[in-house]
Amino acid sequence: MPLPLPSLFDLSGKTALVTGAGRGLGWEIARALGLQGATVFINGRHPDTLEEKIRLDAPPGSPITAAAFDICDESAANDWMANAGTGLDILVNNMGLRHRRSLEDCPPDEFATVLDANLVAPYRLARLAAAQMTDGSNIINITSIAGPRARSGDSAYTAAKGGLESLTRALAMELATKGIRVNAIAPGFFATEANREMVADPDIQKFVDTRIPLKRWGQPREIAGAAVFLASDAASYVNGHVLTVDAGLSVSF
Ligand SMILES: NC(=O)c1ccc[n+]([C@@H]2O[C@H](COP(=O)([O-])OP(=O)(O)OC[C@H]3O[C@@H](n4cnc5c(N)ncnc54)[C@H](OP(=O)(O)O)[C@@H]3O)[C@@H](O)[C@H]2O)c1
Repeated sequence: MPLPLPSLFDLSGKTALVTGAGRGLGWEIARALGLQGATVFINGRHPDTLEEKIRLDAPPGSPITAAAFDICDESAANDWMANAGTGLDILVNNMGLRHRRSLEDCPPDEFATVLDANLVAPYRLARLAAAQMTDGSNIINITSIAGPRARSGDSAYTAAKGGLESLTRALAMELATKGIRVNAIAPGFFATEANREMVADPDIQKFVDTRIPLKRWGQPREIAGAAVFLASDAASYVNGHVLTVDAGLSVSF
């Protein structure tokens, strides 16, 4: 018997961890998963920031809890997963370290730091989560439209996000045997706090006006529907997919 449409997106009884969720896209994803009934842990490095965000912005009665640890700290990630992560149904690897440096200005150790935050840490969390996840669970990696395509002066971030996209497909194959789906969301231009300076830059606004088909930045909340879809039974046959949310930028010419 097919489920009625609202039930397809119902996440009641599910537990989710969203990394880097004290603000920006991560917060909106966490909030939306919570509104669909999931118990949600929001991750960031600073417990006070997370608690304050929950106090100010969580919908009343929303089951959102702080999970403060640095995703690049292996022992902290191991500890959190061992103690609080049991029973995780949804992992959203959202945290990403933005980095715009040319080849000349980015020494190899800095390149490695960017890869560690954007690729190794999500791999580590996926590995820890998958060891506990059961049939019907899923992982969502937040990649970027910078990954399959590139611009000058951005090699570390582009390489890391391209790697995360490939990792999404590789883990989708490997974890399918356990009934765990792995997908990605590739955001385009979103007006998050991290992009505040870019949003105010008239030259970038010209790019937005001429190159983005909807001629505007995405609002952080506009990422949430894609995450709810991929996390829910509505996407029960979607695996290894990269869902681009960019107002059509990457398919225009
Ligand atoms: N915004 C866009 O237009 C856009 C476009 C394409 C892709 N993306 C991707 O979307 C994701 C979210 O972007 P965003 O702009 O919403 O990010 P953001 O505003 O920069 O948010 C980053 C969050 O991560 C936390 N954080 C930073 N380092 C951490 C660490 N080591 N461990 C745990 N948490 C950490 C920060 O909190 P604390 O500092 O308190 O720890 C903050 O809450 C990223 O993967 C980004 O690459 C964004």
